[in-house]
Amino acid sequence: MSETTIVGESRVNDPVTIVIFGASGDLTHRKLIPALYIAYAKGLLPSAFTIVGFARRDYDDAIFRGMMADSVKEFSRIPTDDETVAHFVEHIHYHKGDISSPATYAELKEKFREEGVYPENRLYYLSIMPSLFETAVDLLKKSGLIAVPGGTHWTRVVIEKPFGKDLESAVALNAGLLRHLDESQIYRIDHYLGKETVQNILSFRFANTIFEPIFNRSFVDHIQITAAETVGMEGARGGYYDENGAIRDMVTNHLLELLCLVAMEPPGDLSAKAVRNEKLKILTAAKLDIRRDISDAVCRGQYGAAVGEDGSQIKGYLEEDRIDPHSQTETFAALRLKIDNWRWAGVPIFLRTGKRMAKKATEISVQFKVPPLQLFQHVECEGDVCDITHIKPNTLIFRIQPDEGIFLKVGTKRPGMRFVVEDVKMDFSYSGTWDKALPEAYERLLLDTLHGDSTLFTRSDEVEAEWRVVQPILDNLDKLEPHTYPPNGWGAPEADHLFHGTGGQWRNE
Ligand code: BG6
Repeated sequence: MSETTIVGESRVNDPVTIVIFGASGDLTHRKLIPALYIAYAKGLLPSAFTIVGFARRDYDDAIFRGMMADSVKEFSRIPTDDETVAHFVEHIHYHKGDISSPATYAELKEKFREEGVYPENRLYYLSIMPSLFETAVDLLKKSGLIAVPGGTHWTRVVIEKPFGKDLESAVALNAGLLRHLDESQIYRIDHYLGKETVQNILSFRFANTIFEPIFNRSFVDHIQITAAETVGMEGARGGYYDENGAIRDMVTNHLLELLCLVAMEPPGDLSAKAVRNEKLKILTAAKLDIRRDISDAVCRGQYGAAVGEDGSQIKGYLEEDRIDPHSQTETFAALRLKIDNWRWAGVPIFLRTGKRMAKKATEISVQFKVPPLQLFQHVECEGDVCDITHIKPNTLIFRIQPDEGIFLKVGTKRPGMRFVVEDVKMDFSYSGTWDKALPEAYERLLLDTLHGDSTLFTRSDEVEAEWRVVQPILDNLDKLEPHTYPPNGWGAPEADHLFHGTGGQWRNE
């Protein structure tokens, strides 16, 4: 079995202090603290660990512990019991301070002096505005709170996306972080990589022999990756979202990472370096498939208003809270890419993501070519209308979420006197195979940071290569005005034209 898989389940040995910057935020409550609790309850955290919540609010240890206990009880994926929760929160402390103020870091350093409470290995989790990443790292460094790599104790810094707003700012951010940290100390989280089903893409491809030989331009017609969401701008998301939009929020990271996993060459081993090198090669070879105009390769959309089935008003994007009523930010994006390498030359790759779509579904579908001879076409009639039905191409679907699983669509003979071939599904579903709920992405990723395994994190050159893929879109937004699309459908119908000349279409299922 791969080393990465074993690492994720094994106990962390190094004592550690985990400092969460932005501890009063949503991510801490909903994801980070519940994930750490689960690791604790499963006995995976080291015997000596301390969690420090760092934020501006006027809390103290007792108040913060109470809040974190509530978060665990509300959001833990596994059942909680009061005694374990009480023991867990005893490891939590609170540090009130301003991220931009040097005095705060001096106070933190002073706090760390308390004998036996704050182990010297440090994980700094920056769950803060990206504009403050560099400030926090700079002040940590100036206060002597960052260890030299390779020394007796380690320092690791986790940052959340967005890693910049475009190529230029991503390069600047990387340079800023790398002034104070070694690349090996930086963990850029893309939570999609922590999903069990996403990790299974590599296992499925490289632990089986039957699919890999046909994963190439000779057999594959095209690949589609969809991440559809039903949510709009619920909560207070509007401000962040309007600044970013679907391309920056989903395509530049999650969708391109999925593409890497489905398209990359087998790495020589499962080390972080080997896996990330292969991903980088895909990102470097991936380009927008622009034939005459950028609109051949990109479609942007924005959800409009509608009346729900129950007569309720569904707000359009421009009417949502914290959204500029004249905003040109896209809530839907569809792209046609090509990968200029031997394996994938000539195979179109389609990516799409959107808010307020028909259903929540993230999937990768690899559609194979149709057989060279249509032996089994037949006539199918409904009422007065008859159609010639061709057999459908085989499709392999990695269902990332929900209904997690992997399905293969194959043609099979419908029982009866005639040769009528029908599409059926051979499937593997997680829920039908294992009775355990899948771990949350953050559970895996936090443990990996504590183990020092960066395989599932994005390296600086990968991040820059991702921006390079989408930069032509950002440079041509004036030519790509968003089309308004009705909520609860499959996004902007104009995205259909990306398939022009291929004979394919979006899988709206
Ligand atoms: C986040 C985006 O990274 O991923 C959100 O910022 C999006 O806009 C979310 O809703 C989707 O994540 P998941 O795990 O629900 O697919």
